[in-house]
Amino acid sequence: MTKRVAIFLSGGGSNMRALVEDMQGDHPARPCVVLSNQAEAGGIAWAREQGIATEVVDHRPFAGDRVQFETAISAALTPHQPDIICLAGFMRKLTAGFTDQWAGKMINIHPSLLPKYKGLHTHRRVLDEGDAQHGCTVHEVTAALDDGPILGQAVLSVAVDDSAQSLAERVLVLEHKLYPAVLRRFADGDRRPVMLTG
Ligand code: GRF
Repeated sequence: MTKRVAIFLSGGGSNMRALVEDMQGDHPARPCVVLSNQAEAGGIAWAREQGIATEVVDHRPFAGDRVQFETAISAALTPHQPDIICLAGFMRKLTAGFTDQWAGKMINIHPSLLPKYKGLHTHRRVLDEGDAQHGCTVHEVTAALDDGPILGQAVLSVAVDDSAQSLAERVLVLEHKLYPAVLRRFADGDRRPVMLTG
């Protein structure tokens, strides 16, 4: 049966767009809602234009109460009946209460070759370490930040003249290939890792 996918974002949503554009034809899933904690997120406007349902749950009124924020997210999701959640640049940490509820059904894309460089500023950290390779990872979401079983990675070679900005741009191109490739498999119940080179 076709899986229903909720996509969470906080910004421009280029990964969301890559996922949505791939969910056509024989794809085993379809988008059911795009949810953001930022009403003005570019990704929300684009999803609306496509006729995809959207939900905004602003985190600010919850003032650091993550559990209440997640309760509001769950309430917003319920009418859309998602089978899978894809985090795509969703910049809020989720507690174990939420991640446990979605264990094995929630995935995330992160701009590094995990387990290296969890958290922010990954491109700068790669340059500071002088790494020869960099890339992105799609993984199942667990309570630990940027952790969980790896479902796919895309790798590139760092060039001598790369900056944090150029790496961000080059990795984003790979993210747009990797995330849709992983979601296709994942929605079919296939958790074998997808490995791409850029
Ligand atoms: C991507 O680099 C993603 O890996 C990170 O946040 C960025 C989101 O970009 N978690 P976009 O909103 O999908 O364009």
